Amino acid sequence: MIKVLFVCLGNICRSPLAEEVFKHYVQKKGLENKIICDSAGTSSYHLGENPDKRTIKNARNNGIELAHKARQFNVNDFEDFDYILAMDNSNLQNILKLKPAHIDKCEICLMRDFDEVAKASKDVPDPYFGGDEGFQEVFEILERANSKFLDHLLEKHQLM
Ligand code: 4NP
Repeated sequence: MIKVLFVCLGNICRSPLAEEVFKHYVQKKGLENKIICDSAGTSSYHLGENPDKRTIKNARNNGIELAHKARQFNVNDFEDFDYILAMDNSNLQNILKLKPAHIDKCEICLMRDFDEVAKASKDVPDPYFGGDEGFQEVFEILERANSKFLDHLLEKHQLM
């Protein structure tokens, strides 16, 4: 089983959406028995909460239902997952600070490493303090990046 974890700050906007968008692509390929995923936040701000109402609404408008309760990223995740994808560089740095030197099992990278139209900044922009258009921008980035990330896994693990 290949295990993937998506990480943002609050685990209520970007990463729960990344998780569902990715799951959607995995299901389309019939690979649910080979690839599983989860999401987490580097902060404890929203523990146990549902995704942000604006994220739920935007996802629904795009045909995706969210069912995640926010949880905090922790050191066990370095052993439990094969891939950890951070939504932005600040989250990536916070993840790397927690990584025990002796655990080198998982690959840690940025979600937008897989976005072919990523601009100079490889951050998935944080939509929390902005307007509705920010949520749609995040959705479109996550669609592009997750489609390519799944292609990467299929090739690397010879799943096709
Ligand atoms: P997320 O967005 O990291 O994509 O879930 C945020 C959610 C909450 C906060 C910041 C970003 N906050 O400051 O509470």
